[in-house]
Amino acid sequence: MATILLTGGGRGLGRITAEKLAASGHRVLLTARTPAAAEAAVARIRATHPGASVEPRAVDLSSLAAVREFAVRQADHGERLDVLFHIAGVMQTSPVRRLTVDGLEETLAVNALAPFLLTNLLLPSLERSSAARVVVVSSRLHLPGSRGVPVDFDFDDPQLERGYHPERAYKNSKLAALWFTYELQRRLPPRPITANAVCPGFVPATVAASTHGAMRFAMRHVLPRMRFATSVEDATDSFVFMATDPSIEGVGGQFFGERHPVESSPESRDPELARRFWHLAADLSGLQRA
Ligand SMILES: NC(=O)c1ccc[n+]([C@@H]2O[C@H](COP(=O)([O-])OP(=O)(O)OC[C@H]3O[C@@H](n4cnc5c(N)ncnc54)[C@H](OP(=O)(O)O)[C@@H]3O)[C@@H](O)[C@H]2O)c1
Repeated sequence: MATILLTGGGRGLGRITAEKLAASGHRVLLTARTPAAAEAAVARIRATHPGASVEPRAVDLSSLAAVREFAVRQADHGERLDVLFHIAGVMQTSPVRRLTVDGLEETLAVNALAPFLLTNLLLPSLERSSAARVVVVSSRLHLPGSRGVPVDFDFDDPQLERGYHPERAYKNSKLAALWFTYELQRRLPPRPITANAVCPGFVPATVAASTHGAMRFAMRHVLPRMRFATSVEDATDSFVFMATDPSIEGVGGQFFGERHPVESSPESRDPELARRFWHLAADLSGLQRA
């Protein structure tokens, strides 16, 4: 049985994924932003699955120091990690650009820089596994032409100091998450570790938490019935597939939809841009450049 560390385990798709993985016998290290949120999620899982091996961990992914401290402590345990699953993500709705304690634009920091730093610092733990997986949750919203404000990642203004829009920040961060995943995959050999990204589909039931008023009502009660919507059940089944399905052992550098590879944008597949993002992420997160 695998040891799986996942982020975003406090609620939404992360919590249900943690529950399914623990229920099927895996050891789950469930991280949430605060100890209280992690413990509450673990207690909920144990209430329905008393024998589940699930442990609470806390890390605020908007703080580079917190990510670093958490990763170093985790790596120092000398434990093997078979799966590192980056599920946590933030989608702002306010037009006001939010900065983290490090002065970074929050969406990019949580959705792309935290996975970058955490993965790099946890490589020693992943190397202890005979076949480890890094899975990064991205989104089809990174595709050009997706609904709303278009993706537009400008390396001269990666943190949207000019022309901030929350939708653009989200789409750019999910494009950056793909660059990180693909460049990581290029850098991993000869280690027995793979890196893939996944989109859960459009899951209004969990998006509801980031919305308000009439939009929240629609996300909770109306949109889940639409043909284009994905249920929490299906989305988390595809997350479980990414974490543990033997059919994708050894497969890396792919963007998955519902349990099969799907195309990501040509921009995301540009190795030069991916390398450039890697260097930017190393600079912004304070990781030694390599
Ligand atoms: N739902 C969709 O339609 C959809 C589509 C494509 C991709 N995705 C992606 O799928 C993933 C899960 O989405 P979801 O729908 O389950 O969203 P959600 O219900 O809003 O859950 C987001 C999770 O991320 C955590 N998080 C946010 N900021 C954090 C921080 N600074 N430190 C630690 N944890 C933090 C949240 O913890 P708190 O409770 O502390 O805020 C929460 O557990 C996200 O990456 C999202 O972008 C979702």
